[in-house]
Amino acid sequence: MVQEKIKNQLILESTTLWDFPRQNYGDKPHGNNKFNGVTPAFIIWNLLQRYTKEGDLVVDPMCGSGTTIDVAKELERRAVGYDIAPYREDIIKNDTRKIPLKDNSVDFVFIDSPYSDNIKYSNEPACIGKISCEKEKFFEELEKATKEIFRVLKYGKVMAWLIGDQWKKKKFTPVGFKLYQMLSKYFDTMDIVCITRKNQTSNTPLWHNLAREHNFYLRGFKYLFIMRKPEKRKRPR
Ligand SMILES: C[S@@+](CC[C@H](N)C(=O)[O-])C[C@H]1O[C@@H](n2cnc3c(N)ncnc32)[C@H](O)[C@@H]1O
Repeated sequence: MVQEKIKNQLILESTTLWDFPRQNYGDKPHGNNKFNGVTPAFIIWNLLQRYTKEGDLVVDPMCGSGTTIDVAKELERRAVGYDIAPYREDIIKNDTRKIPLKDNSVDFVFIDSPYSDNIKYSNEPACIGKISCEKEKFFEELEKATKEIFRVLKYGKVMAWLIGDQWKKKKFTPVGFKLYQMLSKYFDTMDIVCITRKNQTSNTPLWHNLAREHNFYLRGFKYLFIMRKPEKRKRPR
């Protein structure tokens, strides 16, 4: 399997450990791998293969450089991408805490949100990436986004949320656990996937040595929470 991935083949993952050698696959770009915080396109490809079919409406409410749009269109899904700071023309400017779509109208949502205030995405004051995950406000704002995703998704349909933890200035924040706890108030859990981290800026010999010397760990993985909006007869908790 590893050999096939190295040859840039697309593989439908069969376990809950996904390890991608690079951001992109194939000959065409999917999003922009120069965009700080870009999502590996293989993640979205795997999710769309499993949880959507041709013609389905796929929405990314924080779509950054547009990876979700590119993968979805290539797979002949309909795609809508929003961002508070649109990176290209086909991305609609919108705050994810109010999604301009009807209730129960979307087949699949993918979201790779800020994990904290570690990356400067834009000068937009409404960027959630300006709030530290050490503050409860960070999770309160993500909960507003969650409620909107829940509202626009069709009953029984799936959303996937990519997020990582933070270790900063000797303080660990379990961003993934806290987000999951909140998501599970609304959605049923389908599965939790571990995505290995390869391309972060701290993946250098210097940082690895610092982690050993000063007794901390570099972030080695992200969580991918795969959640389903319950069927209509079950009321949200
Ligand atoms: C991790 S990046 C997304 C990366 C994207 N999936 C890609 O592959 O390029 C997070 C994005 O969330 C956006 N964002 C932050 N706060 C937002 C908000 N309130 N509403 C909409 N987008 C927001 C940022 O502008 C940034 O582009």
